[in-house]
Amino acid sequence: MKDLFHLDPTITYLNHGAFGACPKEVVKVYQDYQLSLERNPTGWITGQGREALDKSRKSLANFLSCDHRDLVFVPNPTAAMNAVMKSINLQKGDEVLTTNQEYGALDIAWDYHCHSAQAKVVRSTIELPIYSADKLLDQFWSGLTDRTRVIFISHMTSATALVMPVADICRRARELGILCIVDGAHVPGHLDLDLSTLDPDIYIGANHKWLLSPKGNSFLYVRTDLQDQIDPLAISWGYQPLLHGRERFQSYHQYQGTVDFSAYLCMDACIEFRRKYGWEQRTEECRSILRKYAPRFAEVLGSKLLAPQTDEWTGQMASFYNPAVDMLKLKENLERNHGIVLAVNRLHDDEYIRISYQPYNQEAELDHLLDGIREILR
Ligand SMILES: Cc1ncc(COP(=O)(O)O)c(C=O)c1O
Repeated sequence: MKDLFHLDPTITYLNHGAFGACPKEVVKVYQDYQLSLERNPTGWITGQGREALDKSRKSLANFLSCDHRDLVFVPNPTAAMNAVMKSINLQKGDEVLTTNQEYGALDIAWDYHCHSAQAKVVRSTIELPIYSADKLLDQFWSGLTDRTRVIFISHMTSATALVMPVADICRRARELGILCIVDGAHVPGHLDLDLSTLDPDIYIGANHKWLLSPKGNSFLYVRTDLQDQIDPLAISWGYQPLLHGRERFQSYHQYQGTVDFSAYLCMDACIEFRRKYGWEQRTEECRSILRKYAPRFAEVLGSKLLAPQTDEWTGQMASFYNPAVDMLKLKENLERNHGIVLAVNRLHDDEYIRISYQPYNQEAELDHLLDGIREILR
């Protein structure tokens, strides 16, 4: 499968979760779109390109089981979240309830926006290892107060690579009348995602990670009746205050000045690639292989498994923590001396090593990693 990607065949690439990797077939479609743009920039940007954009958004909406009018393309989750944070009009004393497991850049962004509004970020501690959803939910809701205005939670956490029980959280947030925002950066193409069933208020996802798109392709989903409250980051031609109804969300967000939006146009190519190569079946195999290896990695790293190795908690990434191991040094050594690329992510004061496993990987690569870790830590 690795031949289907541009990945360097001489390295062991176990870091799909960071920036994804795009199949050659999809890169080709992407570059063809770029060439179409350059042949007639005016005609493309104002004509066929726009039509292709609408078509691609419909394909993505179909993949995510939602109405295409409730989605807009954005370059990355950070841009989507900053647009949301700027729009929600936090007031002095308001609280944003989140966890100690969130992606660092978005922690920084929440701190920034809450500080400006004199609002407060409340980070419930999710204790690791996780033993049960009930216990985790109790820990999460312990941060709820009568000042909680917003809930923000990752569907799959970044450093610790754990699936959070967001369906329960969205349901309860709705009952309580609290705005619920889900950071699903790692979810599209990785975990089952049916937005109509999950019914979050706001959901963001990256298409360039597990959905295999070229970089700079993500989405922002906003429930229909909240769309008028969410402004784009950049105010441009589409921002016409008198515009209301179903066109407004697209019009406000879709035109952000001159950009190459070719990456957004590749949804059909990504979805077709998945179908053609039986990607779903293959990724299911990846999950079981990684779960088989997880206890071995935990053993060599002197770490505990962070959660039960089931679909409820894990996917195609596994993270490990041991404060006695300098994870950054280990990562550098693995890269330099063993040609292995993986992630080390800092979460507050702790460093987690994270392994991603895709159909382009092989069990032999996990064995190679185990040997490398053993040799370095010996
Ligand atoms: C959970 C989570 N949220 C958000 C992001 C943000 O992605 P970006 O920095 O590309 O905006 C990431 C990136 O890996 C992530 O893991």
